[in-house]
Amino acid sequence: MLQFRYSKEPPFWNLSSLEIMAIIVGPTAFVCAIIMVYYFCRTSKQSRGGLHHHLQHGEDSIEAPDHPILKGVSLKHMIEMTTSGSGSGLPLLVQRSIARQIQLVESIGQGRFGEVWRGRWRGENVAVKIFSSREERSWFREAEIYQTVMLRHENILGFIAADNKDNGTWTQLWLITDYHEYGSLFDFLDRNVMDTGEMIKMALSIATGLAHLHMDIMGTQGKPAIAHRDLKSKNILVKSNGTCAIGDLGLAVRHDITTDTVDIPLNNRVGTKRYMAPEVLDETMNVYQFDSFKRADVYALGLIFWEITTRCNVGGIYDEYNLPFYDAVPPDPAIEEMRRVVCIEKQRPNIPNRWQSCEALHVMSKLMKECWYHNATARLTALRIKKTLSNFRASEELKM
Ligand SMILES: Nc1ncnc2c1ncn2[C@@H]1O[C@H](COP(=O)(O)OP(=O)(O)O)[C@@H](O)[C@H]1O
Ligand SMILES: *[C@@H]1O[C@H](CO)[C@@H](O)[C@H](O)[C@H]1NC(C)=O
Ligand SMILES: *[C@@H]1O[C@H](CO)[C@@H](O)[C@H](O)[C@H]1NC(C)=O
Ligand SMILES: *[C@@H]1O[C@H](CO)[C@@H](O)[C@H](O)[C@H]1NC(C)=O
Ligand SMILES: [Mg+2]
Repeated sequence: MLQFRYSKEPPFWNLSSLEIMAIIVGPTAFVCAIIMVYYFCRTSKQSRGGLHHHLQHGEDSIEAPDHPILKGVSLKHMIEMTTSGSGSGLPLLVQRSIARQIQLVESIGQGRFGEVWRGRWRGENVAVKIFSSREERSWFREAEIYQTVMLRHENILGFIAADNKDNGTWTQLWLITDYHEYGSLFDFLDRNVMDTGEMIKMALSIATGLAHLHMDIMGTQGKPAIAHRDLKSKNILVKSNGTCAIGDLGLAVRHDITTDTVDIPLNNRVGTKRYMAPEVLDETMNVYQFDSFKRADVYALGLIFWEITTRCNVGGIYDEYNLPFYDAVPPDPAIEEMRRVVCIEKQRPNIPNRWQSCEALHVMSKLMKECWYHNATARLTALRIKKTLSNFRASEELKM
């Protein structure tokens, strides 16, 4: 009897490990899907109450204990759940319902198109960029770029939602992203200095973000190459662990790989004059070739690396924080002034001698020089910069 029982195994053990996996994973995925559908239905129902309902009941009312399933579902999880497939953002209805539940708390920034606010969504901080209805095209374009398939990356500012709010006479256009309490790289460098390890980590994160933006990835899991066109320290956010995320994609252009062209009709000289590459300033850039825009981004990256490196503290020595060309042009310089300094006199930010005596500073100064060559085709690519920095960091780790 015993022998019979043991030799004739129960059918379950005859299944291959693949089949066992299918038995376990299948129902689990099904249950998860049900939970998600339920969750989104609840969210859109609540949004009908609108902003007023939300304001009346305070910010905790929605996370009430009678909705246990909503507890602990953060924005991050929600976005991960819905975007792991296509990577192009939350469904529009979900975006809208999130936007309608946000309370604005304080104004944190002012840029080209209006104000940026810190807002709260169910106890989480979010950043809300508010455009007026006159800037609808800018708002639409930025939201469109952020929702480019497969753009999401830890070094690109995380997009959450876009919505338009109409109160009858006035339309406000909202663009909601992750909030970073350190603010822009400009603000961070103004207030902080770093050691060499932190400097390399920060520079590497920006190069990694730019390399991802610039990369054409083919296939269904692919993304088009994107050029930023307004890269500068005010358009980069600093995260709590000292790595960065590239933001303000409002002026970006995408590469149409089938025709090798740029995706919008060209308004050829946009961006911030101080950070414009020589070929942009003197209008010699080939605006029909997508790579030209990437090279202009790399030039600006060189200036940003210089800003970061001036704030690296080695043996108690570092510089005051200044914008590039602070000593060559006035605040808010004209194109003509920039062109004289950058194209004719071929000036670049000063590289102090002491940067040659420390290996990390030396690596950074070599990279920035190779970013800001007058000859655009001679400049490094973002991918090359990323690899150089990541190799350098690995070799430093080996030494320790
Ligand atoms: N996600 C964010 N977290 C924290 N601060 C932000 C965030 N987004 C923008 N800011 C602040 O607002 C400023 C303007 O934002 P930005 O997106 O560059 O707007 P604009 O297109 O008007 O220049 C930034 O320089 C930064 O100081
Ligand atoms: C709509 O909002 C604008 C700006 O916030 C305000 O000036 C205006 O009075 C509002 N209109 C109504 C009808 O509430
Ligand atoms: C920084 O934090 C992000 C999450 O916000 C994480 O993915 C990343 O690995 C961290 N990087 C470093 C170098 O600590
Ligand atoms: C620019 O750099 C490229 C690559 O290094 C080189 O082939 C080309 O001759 C240079 N052009 C000029 C005008 O110097
Ligand atoms: Mg900006």
